[in-house]
Formats: sequence, structure tokens, C-alpha cells
Amino acid sequence: MAKIFDHHKVSMGWIPTNSHWRNLRKACVMEIFAQQRLEATQALRQTKVQELLDYINQSCKSGAPIDVGQVVFTTTLNAISNTFVSIDLAQYGSNLSHEFQHLVYCLAQEAGKPNLADFFPALSLVDPQGIHKRTRIYFAKLFGIFDGIINERVQLRASSKGPKASNDVLDSLLTLNEEDNSKISLRDIKHLILDLFIAGIDSTSSTVEWAMALLLHNPEKMVKAQDELEEVLGNNGKVQESDISKFHYLQAIVKETFRLHPPAPFLVPRKAVADVEICGFIVPKNAQILINVWAMGRDLSIWPNPNLFMPERFLEHGIEFKGQDFELIPFGAGRRICPGLPLANRMVHLMLASLVHNFAWKLPDEMKPEDMDMEEMFGLTLHKAKPLQAIPITSL
Ligand code: HEM
Repeated sequence: MAKIFDHHKVSMGWIPTNSHWRNLRKACVMEIFAQQRLEATQALRQTKVQELLDYINQSCKSGAPIDVGQVVFTTTLNAISNTFVSIDLAQYGSNLSHEFQHLVYCLAQEAGKPNLADFFPALSLVDPQGIHKRTRIYFAKLFGIFDGIINERVQLRASSKGPKASNDVLDSLLTLNEEDNSKISLRDIKHLILDLFIAGIDSTSSTVEWAMALLLHNPEKMVKAQDELEEVLGNNGKVQESDISKFHYLQAIVKETFRLHPPAPFLVPRKAVADVEICGFIVPKNAQILINVWAMGRDLSIWPNPNLFMPERFLEHGIEFKGQDFELIPFGAGRRICPGLPLANRMVHLMLASLVHNFAWKLPDEMKPEDMDMEEMFGLTLHKAKPLQAIPITSL
């Protein structure tokens, strides 16, 4: 599926770790995810989270449940699209938001399906499950949107308004593209933006939805998290990214969420470029490698009571999810580790803390926490099978 429009030949997520991959990674690290870059775009994410809180505050008046995954998705999408291209690509409750969400969601779903043609290449011409056909349509629609945005910006930069039209990620990438002997083409930029949107939005928002579902399912943990936030922030304090390091219990909740429901349960499929021996096993050249981090998170030999939601387990020892502690690698590890980790880390904590701190929550239809449906559904991103509906109650 990644071969559609030759995406696999230019996409950072799919090409081997060659010099082109290194150029793209370098551009990402320097222009997007470096600490000082993220500090500079912090206010922008704060604004997007405030819009989320305003929207939920409005919903409080009706007492109707909201679809938590949906509103968090809209916020994540706008935070990412503003950081990259200075545009809100979604609106709360609008069809546009639903259409974009639908496209990204469907793509992730198709990518997560075992495709018979991957195992029996002769079938690729037949496309028995229709995966190739549907994905082509989603790709074409998304590329259409990105082409429009990039072309408009190129024209704006060529006009009298000067080269630095918006000073966002797209501007930085276009500046790299204009350098002599540039290693980044306009086509690379389009495919990179697609990768960043597809990899970043659904994974981040589904983590927040799962964390909220786990807290509603375990109300005593929700109270503990609210107590911690109140103690750190006071009653009316706004959550800021700079506060995250003080939220020890909230950080433990996020780790426990990654352990139980890693957004990429098999990481991203990889291929061995040579025969390699690992722990006495030969992994042959060209073998497809799937790392089952979902099973690792529930391995009884590593985690006592693995099926219980116990954030406290992370307060006792310093396990992190940044690729050093192999028990918990929801972002992968090594040189291929998710480059978006620093941004995802900030967004997940900022959104979760804001939702938990600013509202009390209850389940619709007098549902009891123990009756919640916590089933999983697998696309490329692991979703709740039943979207989380919850009723916000204004300020605690
Ligand atoms: C909770 C949120 C996220 C999770 C759990 C996650 C997880 C992952 C995983 C497991 C991989 C594959 C690592 C490997 O092959 O070993 C990956 C790759 C990638 N992620 Fe993320 N990710 C998240 C958020 C983001 C964000 C916010 C962005 C960017 C906006 C992003 C961009 C990428 C890209 C471009 C790759 C491909 C990197 C490469 O192959 O060199 N991710 N991510």
C-alpha cells in the first residue's frame, strides 16, 4: 500500500536508512522537533488547547455527551497543521473535520490490515481486498490538499511579501529546498508532510482517548490525577507545557496507557537488509519484522498483574518510553525511533492534563465504570472499538 504514487521511494517512514533518509531525519530534527523549535511553537498549541476547552465548556451547557476521541483529534490536527503550515485544517463539529479525520482514520485502518498481496505478491495485480484501490483514493485526496497548500506558499514567497511568509515548518523546508544543491525537493516536502500528518495525528489523539477511557473506568485514579493537578496548579491555573515535569502521577498514567494500549502495537513493519543473528536466532535477509509491543506490555514475566491499570507501578521505578528501556517502547528504539516523540510527549500531556483539570466527567445513561466497553480495534493505530462518549461537567 505504501507503494501508491511511489510513496515508498521518498517517504521517511518507508525508505531504508540511506543518505536521503538521513537528510529527511536531519530536516525534521532541526526544523521541527528540536527543543528550541518546540519551545517557539508552544503558545500555538496552548491556543489550540484553549479552543478545545472553550468548545467543551459550550457542550457542558447541553449536558450531552461528547465524543472524546473526535474532539481531541480535531485539536491535535489543528495543533499539527498550524505548526507545519499555519492553517486550521479542522473545525469542531464540522463536516470538513469529519472528512479529514475520516481520510486519516481510513488510511491508518488500511495500513493496519494484513494485506494478502504482501504475502502472495502475485495477488498484488488483483488487489483481492481492494486495499490498494481505496488507499489510492485517500492518498489522492490528501495530496490534492497538500499540493494546494504548498503551491500557494511557493507563490506567496515569490511575491513581494518576501521569502519568510509564515515562518512555520513549511517555510523552513522551502528555504532548505531553495538552497544550492538542495537535498530536499518539493516532492519530498509533500510526501514528508503526508507522513507527519498520518504518523502524528491519530497516534497522539488515540493515546489521549485511551487515557481518558482508563481514568473513567477507574474513577479513583481520576480523582488522584485531579488532586495532583489541583495541588500543582491551584484551582484555576491553566496547564502549560512547562508544568508537565511536575505532574508525576499524570506521567505515570500516560506510561500505563502506552503499556496497555500502544498506538502502534506492532511498531512499523521493517525489513532486514542482511542476515542477522539476534539472541541465537537468525533473521534472514528480506524477512519482514513486526515487533509486538502490545504483547510485551502484557508479559507477566515483566509486569505483575499486567492486565490491571496501575499507573503507580511507574512511580516506583524510573522506566521511560524514550527508547532506552526495552520493556516500554511505544515509539520504537534506536535510530529509527519515532522522530515526533518530543512533540507527541508535549501534546499528550498537555491535552490530558487540561481535560482532567478543567472538567469533572461522567458516563452517559447512568452507565457504571465497570460496564464500559474497553475492547480494542486494530488499524495501524490501536483504537477503542467503541468510541469514548463522556459528559463534561464544567469546572471542578
Ligand atoms: C503517541 C504518539 C506517537 C506514537 C506512539 C508514535 C509511534 C511511532 C512508532 C512506533 C514509529 C516506528 C518506529 C520504528 O520503526 O521502530 C514511528 C515512526 C514515525 N513517527 Fe511516530 N508516533 C507518535 C507520534 C508522532 C508524531 C506527533 C509525529 C510527527 C508529527 C510522528 C512522526 C513519525 C514519523 C515521520 C515516523 C517514521 C520515522 C522513520 O521511519 O524514520 N509520530 N512513530
